[in-house]
Amino acid sequence: MNNTVETIKTIMMRRSIRKFENTPVTEAQIKILLEAAMNAPSAGDGRPWHFVVVTDRARLDALADALDEGKPMFKQAQAAILVCLDESLEKFKGFGPQDCACAAQNLHLAAHDMGLGSVWIAVIGVPPRVAGCRNILGVPENITPFAIFPLGRPAEKLSAEFRYDQSRVHTDRW
Ligand SMILES: Cc1cc2nc3c(=O)[nH]c(=O)nc-3n(C[C@H](O)[C@H](O)[C@H](O)COP(=O)(O)O)c2cc1C
Repeated sequence: MNNTVETIKTIMMRRSIRKFENTPVTEAQIKILLEAAMNAPSAGDGRPWHFVVVTDRARLDALADALDEGKPMFKQAQAAILVCLDESLEKFKGFGPQDCACAAQNLHLAAHDMGLGSVWIAVIGVPPRVAGCRNILGVPENITPFAIFPLGRPAEKLSAEFRYDQSRVHTDRW
């Protein structure tokens, strides 16, 4: 199998994982996730992002109370990574959220590829979650928490979804 096929397999098999085993996520794994995230494309190569890596149990538990909607995701998670937007680094005004989404998806796919589960938890645009991330993780006012990913070895096995929908494809013109 060549690399391209491996990449497509990762994309097609990935699911959101919300239940985690009690196995630590290593520093080396986190480094690879950050490398994958920061290798994302961004408008004008602006890279208007920061990442907060959380491994402290007390903070993960606090995030569970602030973000989890009654689910034990962050209580079970062994780590979490918050992707943040720094608008002052945008090369082209207003493109930052798209840049951060590219980094976030790279991180999410890389986690799957490494046998780690994660789920994209939206933060930007959800004021109580933004406030929760600011309070618990000390994110400054000029930085916007974008999305947070709880991480861990999956404790649930979800089968791949196939979502291709021919009715959404418009050939040559709509
Ligand atoms: C922008 C975005 C925001 C999301 N926010 C949440 C969220 O707040 N809570 C959650 O449990 N899942 C969240 N998800 C995960 C989606 O629910 C999930 O991707 C979708 O149901 C499809 O399932 P799959 O990822 O397993 O294929 C989000 C995903 C995206 C891309």
